Amino acid sequence: MSDIMKITWHGHSAFEIEGKYRTLVDPFFTGNRMARVGWQEMKPDVIAVTHGHSDHLGDTINIARSTGCTIVAISELADYLGRLALRTVDLNFGGTVDLGARYSLVPAVHSSGVEEGGLGIDAGSPAGFIIEDGKTVYHAGDTALFSDMVIIKELYKPEIAMLPIGGRFTMDIKAASIAAALIRPEIIIPMHYNTFEYNKADVVAFKLSVESSTDTEVIIPVPGEPIDL
Ligand code: NI
Ligand code: MN
Repeated sequence: MSDIMKITWHGHSAFEIEGKYRTLVDPFFTGNRMARVGWQEMKPDVIAVTHGHSDHLGDTINIARSTGCTIVAISELADYLGRLALRTVDLNFGGTVDLGARYSLVPAVHSSGVEEGGLGIDAGSPAGFIIEDGKTVYHAGDTALFSDMVIIKELYKPEIAMLPIGGRFTMDIKAASIAAALIRPEIIIPMHYNTFEYNKADVVAFKLSVESSTDTEVIIPVPGEPIDL
């Protein structure tokens, strides 16, 4: 598709995706040293949350309270947020909801849960999103490498993929390079790296690895600077 899309990385897994609609994915601003702006500047139509971990749920509650935007998430996480009187839309793996832009939930190999007052609350399974808003984007969430990425390619044919490369809690650059070869999008934007001590990664090595073995272009994002696609 040839529609214009603008994507802005705010560090870690936080992205603004602007086609006809404005989608915010995993809006982690408070405590995210890569973010150049605060959550108060976010005015999304929709927030897509991949899982309940605090570095992904992030500032979702504050942004949704202040803007009245819709939150889309897997059923259990949507239920949790719905109990806080936020506007939520739930879905599950293999399903799609059309909120102007289309959101589909795909698996991620990871864990989930919300921490509240030292207690763990069930947040269902961790997920990735396919977002169709002119172009088709795959945000993988936190995940290990898994072979069903081939099915994600077959079913949705994402043109742009955001993949975690930081290791320890997700794929590292070796695994993400294999993921790139399974998904073969036009563009990969790496994420979930160099935020903390635990996820340092050589993003230039990742770019060279992918671009020397596939036709995919790796765009190294700069926090706060929009990428026009
Ligand atoms: Ni996580
Ligand atoms: Mn994470």
